[in-house]
Amino acid sequence: MNIDVIISANHINEEYLKNKIVVVIDMLRATSVIATAINNGAKEVIPILTVEEALKKKEELKANGIEALLGGERKAVKIDGFDFTNSPLEYTKEKIEGKTIILTTTNGTRAINLSKKAKKILIASMLNARAVVDALKNEKEDIIFINAGTNGEFSMDDYICSGYMISLLCRETCCNLSDISKTAKIIYENNINIIDFIKEAKHYNILKSLNLENDLYYCIKKDIIKIVPYFNKYKNSIEK
Ligand code: MLT
Repeated sequence: MNIDVIISANHINEEYLKNKIVVVIDMLRATSVIATAINNGAKEVIPILTVEEALKKKEELKANGIEALLGGERKAVKIDGFDFTNSPLEYTKEKIEGKTIILTTTNGTRAINLSKKAKKILIASMLNARAVVDALKNEKEDIIFINAGTNGEFSMDDYICSGYMISLLCRETCCNLSDISKTAKIIYENNINIIDFIKEAKHYNILKSLNLENDLYYCIKKDIIKIVPYFNKYKNSIEK
């Protein structure tokens, strides 16, 4: 299988994704939120681009008898009137089991929405990396790891997370790596304790300055979640 990496949502060429399997990564923190929410029993997560669209979606669902919860961030902080921030630790079983969550984030939900031309879209983070690799290892199509990045720029955290999954995948099956995916693998294999690497990352330091250390410690955990959320094109939402 051919493997490639795209370094940020701004670098997505939607036509390039056709017939390919896309793995969207925003480990700090949107895809960690999605993996956690679905793992804790959320019925679905609807990824939305803007705050206005999210509020509109909530009203639309309400008119159909569905009481959805709103989650996400702008500049990493809570959006006025929303139920949750973008902290995965808030999405507990008690609060979200059986619920529909409408999520809007700066980079993560944008990357997912820009990936819709792909054949399949899987949602990945460090938390569920091994489960994602298990889901990928028998695929025949090309695989693209899409890093959500930070405000259109490359981010060290998403890149090393790609490297971790590429490293695992190469142990399972024969992979033809582009130079950028080979570099991700090498970087991961030389920085297995990823905190030492990502503590240099811009977004890591933004979250730290907001006293969100607990989110950081949680999001770097490897393989504690055994499920793979995927984007259901017919329902426009993410589910298990
Ligand atoms: C995003 O989608 O930009 C992020 O997940 C930002 C954040 O850490 O809240």
